[in-house]
Amino acid sequence: MGKPLNIFVCQSCGTIHGKWAGRCDSCGQWNSLVEEITAQNKPKSGLRKKSRGIEFVDLAGISKDVPRIDTGIAELNRVTGGGLVPGSALLIGGDPGIGKSTLLLQACGAMASAGVKTAYISGEEATAQIRRRAKRLGLADTPVDLAAETSVGPIIDGLMQTKPDVIIIDSIQTLWTDLLGAAPGTVAQVRACAQELTRYAKKRGACVILVGHVTKDGQIAGPRVVEHMVDAVLYFEGDRANQFRILRAHKNRFGPTDEIGVFEMGEMGLSEVANPSALFLDGRSEAASGTAVFAGLEGTRPLLTEIQALVAPAAFGTPRRAVVGWDSGRLAMVLAVLEARCGVNFGGKDVYLNVAGGLKINEPAADLAVAAALASSVFDTALPADCVVFGEISLSGDIRTASRTDARLKEASKLGFKRAISANQTNRTSTKTTSSLPIIEIKALPELISRVEAFSEG
Ligand code: TYD
Ligand code: MG
Repeated sequence: MGKPLNIFVCQSCGTIHGKWAGRCDSCGQWNSLVEEITAQNKPKSGLRKKSRGIEFVDLAGISKDVPRIDTGIAELNRVTGGGLVPGSALLIGGDPGIGKSTLLLQACGAMASAGVKTAYISGEEATAQIRRRAKRLGLADTPVDLAAETSVGPIIDGLMQTKPDVIIIDSIQTLWTDLLGAAPGTVAQVRACAQELTRYAKKRGACVILVGHVTKDGQIAGPRVVEHMVDAVLYFEGDRANQFRILRAHKNRFGPTDEIGVFEMGEMGLSEVANPSALFLDGRSEAASGTAVFAGLEGTRPLLTEIQALVAPAAFGTPRRAVVGWDSGRLAMVLAVLEARCGVNFGGKDVYLNVAGGLKINEPAADLAVAAALASSVFDTALPADCVVFGEISLSGDIRTASRTDARLKEASKLGFKRAISANQTNRTSTKTTSSLPIIEIKALPELISRVEAFSEG
């Protein structure tokens, strides 16, 4: 028998190589070549055995609806789309120290008290450490099964015996399986362990929650490789220096992905924030120049935040553009429209933009609020303190309406705001706004500039 003539196919670009190499010549990807058996090398003996084939069913068939598991934390329920789904895997990512372990331990405690069988398996902390944290969080008496283990084999065997409904794995980077030679934390290990636990979840109808650390430069083999494997990916974000934490769904097979959960980190762990707008506007000084209140929308929930801008003469050659909490490409666009359509000059000036409270905004409707904050800083004029701003700016300088204007206005009026600056509402096809809050309607960006200038005069 001759030597088998197998080929090596790059899993990234599909190029075929004659022999194995560490790096694909064609796309430059490392470790992406996988051996495949070519047709003439397939075992000759058997034509493929005829199978029974797959069975087709119709979409409207009857399948049992399994009730979701209430996590006991309303904000977590909201982000997951109504609670945990049995037989699913969920990944919670976030920077180290942001509060993932705290959140999950609290959820575990709440579920265990409600009679759900939960297991918390930590590969990072010793059981004594977790016990101490549980005590601090007031959860010491809840019937949570606790273990410290890093090897997947014993974990699965243990789970088979106790059969919990909800399993927390903290974190996926610390796990390893002896089926692979690679070190824990490598992509291969992370992927293999996640696959094994996901398979366990589907087979036994349990809900597995995996914790994953992400670093900015992807130092640790990121949980990114597991993202496609699990049913939902949540990100826990926030500023370590700030007490607010935001849980955001990034992918969700069982619910919407635009909902956020807002938490506050305190002495007694994380507490839910029922009225985030009030929190994000807390500490706002009366009508300072360079600030605008944006009436935003996060999922179904309206959320008011303060946008701060500072335009200052540049000290050195190239002016700086620094953004926190917003997209820098979007800022460049707003600056360009302000220059081209309104004649406001930013050349030779530093521009700083900040969203207060550590929130990240990715709604286009924030454009107008950013423009208002920038104009307010340029003309050193405060916008009226009782005014919210929202609307999308197009490259022509026209302002477009944002979705669900009513919800935004209602939230603003609830928090004591008296007026709004937004797009022209007359050409809206849907129902007229019913809110009592009057809108200062703006058709194009130059109107905003003249408004801001007018505020300084009276
Ligand atoms: P932790 O849940 O360990 O973060 P992660 O698992 O994401 O790495 O949270 C650690 C931080 O939270 C730590 O800096 C201390 C803070 N913390 C509080 O402020 N209050 C508390 O009650 C707890 C338990 C933690
Ligand atoms: Mg942790």
